[in-house]
Amino acid sequence: FKATSVKAALQASEPADSILVNGWVRTRRDAKAFSFVELNDGSCLKNLQVIADVGMPGYVETVLKLTTGAAISVRGELVASKGGGQAWEVKASEITLVGAADATYPLQKKGHSMEFLREIAHLRPRANLFGAVFRVRSRLAYAVHQFFQEQGFVYVHTPIVTGSDCEGAGELFRVSTLDPSSPPKSEDGLIDYAQDFFARPTYLTVSGQLEAEVFACALGNVYTFGPTFRAENSNTSRHASEFWMIEPEMAFTDLAGNMDVAEEFVKYLIRDVKEHCADDLAIFGKFVDKGLLERLEFVLERPFQRVSYTEAIEILTASGKTWENPVEWGDNLQSEHERFLAEEHFKCPVTVYNYPKEIKPFYMRLNDDGKTVTAMDVLVPGIGEIVGGSQREERLAVLEANMDHHGLNQDDYSWYLDLRRYGSVPHSGFGLGFERMLMFVTGMANIRDVIPFARTPGNAGF
Ligand code: 4AD
Ligand code: MG
Repeated sequence: FKATSVKAALQASEPADSILVNGWVRTRRDAKAFSFVELNDGSCLKNLQVIADVGMPGYVETVLKLTTGAAISVRGELVASKGGGQAWEVKASEITLVGAADATYPLQKKGHSMEFLREIAHLRPRANLFGAVFRVRSRLAYAVHQFFQEQGFVYVHTPIVTGSDCEGAGELFRVSTLDPSSPPKSEDGLIDYAQDFFARPTYLTVSGQLEAEVFACALGNVYTFGPTFRAENSNTSRHASEFWMIEPEMAFTDLAGNMDVAEEFVKYLIRDVKEHCADDLAIFGKFVDKGLLERLEFVLERPFQRVSYTEAIEILTASGKTWENPVEWGDNLQSEHERFLAEEHFKCPVTVYNYPKEIKPFYMRLNDDGKTVTAMDVLVPGIGEIVGGSQREERLAVLEANMDHHGLNQDDYSWYLDLRRYGSVPHSGFGLGFERMLMFVTGMANIRDVIPFARTPGNAGF
């Protein structure tokens, strides 16, 4: 006998004589002739109301002992609900206690702080708000694949363990710690090696881009979607040590084409979540961020603004604001600058392009001015940078010179240079931070609250 989910029961088109529903008790309320049990199984935000008649078998032994958090199975009849609020409810004929929860269960009815819920990451998904977050996360991941698959992009799995520092920012978590020049001497000579990734200098990847370029230069349009790691010690609400990134890479595509895809992609994801997670978005709009739905609508209606880095610096300088980090041409934009551009100046997402070459990685294409590279960042209100990308340097000699400039050893990157030796083409791509996108569509203010198990400085464990 197959169980029906709460979501399916609430969306039923007709009554049913006999259904089975499993889930966790949210509340129990006793009236004279009945008890009302609110049942949730995580399939949707709403609870299914279960009516237990005082005359039903096991009423005193089971129903009257049901507590918040207990797991139960309910058999009964699906009937039109007389009360408001829901279309259907279950008239129970049998309720079985599957797993009890005593009064120490931390998620009793009262509201809890985000900080408290973070400390109980193993129970947090049972809170309504987090059920919504993680359903949206699942749908958003599906939409990512749908967007690219619909357009014929090939999904490439790039390595998690790698020898190269794509971004050149030195934010790598080391996998191997042994010195390859003085191998360890264990009895069989092997074990220590193997556990240390064979004593090869290896790290957790910061980005799958370089490997994605390999595949774009063979298959045309590709994307990666996987975990990435950054050992940056910034304890902010937007940085995690382990986060997921989506990285499309497109052959025969220049910076303008790249910006178009990034904008289309972000808008597609918003539209998809609006369409498929309307109930969950409504709870964010009500309890997390009152302006959320209006803001998402606004973002969909308008083209993203595009400004060069040089124009952005002029806007920031002319704003007359006093910055915590004063900014002039050549400096990295800090979060306060990015947010000013998106939130106060343009009041909508902004794509900033052509950054100074000195502050960007070795692989970006040098512009004719000799000073800037074809970088582009998408900045959004409430968050700042959500996308970072560029057109890649496809000219062998220019790339080699730039690698020298960045102090990179060309021998380590001979495979990457080969892409420029054989059939080199202009190509571009970007990375969208999956958690930052989730923050943007849910209004959740802290990256720790949109990832199932946050890895941030000070919280590296479970
Ligand atoms: O700007 P980033 O560092 O770009 C790259 O890694 C390129 N290789 C991408 C590419 O061109 N294929 O990172 C891209 C995005 C950022 O815009 C941000 O959304 C997210 O990844 N991101 C982080 N998200 C959470 N925590 C962190 N520590 C993040 N660092 C970057
Ligand atoms: Mg960036």
